[in-house]
Amino acid sequence: MIRPIVAYGDPVLKKDAEEVAEDHPDLSGLLEDMWETMYEADGVGLAAPQIGLSLRLFVADGSPFGEGENGDPGCVGFKRVMINPVLFDLSEEVDSMEEGCLSIPGVREPVVRPVRIGVEYYDAEWNLVEEHLEGLAARIVQHENDHLDGKMIPDHVPATKRLLLHGKLRDIGLGKVPVDYKMKFPKSRRR
Ligand code: NI
Repeated sequence: MIRPIVAYGDPVLKKDAEEVAEDHPDLSGLLEDMWETMYEADGVGLAAPQIGLSLRLFVADGSPFGEGENGDPGCVGFKRVMINPVLFDLSEEVDSMEEGCLSIPGVREPVVRPVRIGVEYYDAEWNLVEEHLEGLAARIVQHENDHLDGKMIPDHVPATKRLLLHGKLRDIGLGKVPVDYKMKFPKSRRR
């Protein structure tokens, strides 16, 4: 089932999400919905708070970035469910790249992040997994993990630029933004 994606301005996106319990009711159904919702919106990642659930889990599929001659080799086959993820060994080396977010349609901003990370998480079958990632795969995981800590792209933007973003973000909260997937706008009068 496709679920509406919560837009910037909804308080659920600002919360520290809760750990997921192994016996969480219908976890597999929830994951199925998250995949369907993410693919329908042409996203490469979707965190549970983005469908209004304050839970520490996300799905990600960076494999489109691994395609072609100039594809990112770290993204080949990079499709993951990460439950209760913990990042570690963040590299001192950072790079900057424009990011978008399904909860902030129409906004793309450069975000500086460590190039390499370690991450420990439970997968969909509740196996504890530890892996090291770099490049776009590491970036996607950091972006989605941010959502679990109530953090989003604007929190990475320098204060001076954030002022310029403000009007755009307000319009998104009001639902005054063209979007071709199902969304829930916190301040829209039309529900
Ligand atoms: Ni996002």
